Amino acid sequence: MTIEEGIIFGKKYLSSVDAKILLSMVTGYDTLELINYLNKELSTVEEDKFKKMIDARKNNKPLQYITNSVNFYGIELYVDENVLIPRFETEELVENSIKIINERFTNPKVLDLCCGSGAIGISIKTKIPTSIVTISDISSDALKVANINKNKYNLDIKVINSDLFDKINEKYDCIISNPPYIRNNEEIEEIVKNNEPSIALYGGENGLLYYERILKDIKKYLNEKFLIAFEIGQDQSESIKKIANFYLNNIEIIVKKDLQERDRMLFILSK
Ligand SMILES: C[S@@+](CC[C@H](N)C(=O)[O-])C[C@H]1O[C@@H](n2cnc3c(N)ncnc32)[C@H](O)[C@@H]1O
Repeated sequence: MTIEEGIIFGKKYLSSVDAKILLSMVTGYDTLELINYLNKELSTVEEDKFKKMIDARKNNKPLQYITNSVNFYGIELYVDENVLIPRFETEELVENSIKIINERFTNPKVLDLCCGSGAIGISIKTKIPTSIVTISDISSDALKVANINKNKYNLDIKVINSDLFDKINEKYDCIISNPPYIRNNEEIEEIVKNNEPSIALYGGENGLLYYERILKDIKKYLNEKFLIAFEIGQDQSESIKKIANFYLNNIEIIVKKDLQERDRMLFILSK
C-alpha cells in the first residue's frame, strides 16, 4: 500500500484529516509533508499498524488515545486511557489563570490538584518558568502519564500521589483544579463514557462533590494572598459560589465564560 492508497483507504472510514494524522503517525512524516511522498510504499509493519489504528477508530476509540498524543496550549502531550483527554476549555482556564497569576505574583507557587496528564501544571511551568509547580492526582496510573510529560520537557515539577489534600503538606499562592464534575446520572457522549476513565469524570449526585471537598479544606494550603482557579460545569457557578462563600472569607469571585459563552471558569481571589 502506498501513502496515497492509505489516504484513500482511510477515507472510507474516517475523515481525511484523521486518516492523514494516522498515516503521519506510522510514517513519521508531518501531515503536510505526506503530499510529497504519495507514491512511497508503506512497510508491512507500517501498513499493519495503520490498519489496526483504523480499526480502533472504527470502534470509536478517540484519536488521541490511538496516537497517544494531544496538543494542549501549544504543547504536545502524551495521553493514554489512564487520563482524561485535555479539553479546549481547560486551555482557556490555563490562559486566564496565567493572566491573573502574572498580575498578582512573582515566582508563584502553584498546585495543580487532580492533574491527570499534567496538562495544566505543565503548561503553567512552561509559560511561567519561574513558577514552582506541584501536580497531584489520586490515580497512580494517571501520574505515570504526567511523569512522562514532565520528563519529555525536562521540567522541575513535584509530583504527588494524593487523595485531594491528604498528602499535601505545603502552602501555595495558586491552587488550580479541573476536578471531576459531571453528575453521576448525567447522559454524556458514548465515546467519552466508553473510553475515558470514570474516576476523571463523575463528581457525585450533583457534580459538586469535589468542589465541596476541595473548598472545605483549601484554606490550610493557601498563602494569605491567593488565587483558586476552577474549571466548572456550565450550570454550576452559583452553587460553587455559595460553597466558596461558606468556607472562605474576604474573597472576590469571578466567573468567566468560555469562547462558546458558557460559564466554565471560576476564580476565587483573596481581597
Ligand atoms: C477532569 S480530570 C482532569 C485532568 C486534568 N487536570 C485535565 O484538565 O485534563 C480529573 C482528575 O481528577 C482525578 N481525581 C479523581 N478523584 C480524585 C481525588 N480524590 N484526589 C485527587 N485526584 C482525583 C482523576 O484521576 C483525574 O485525573
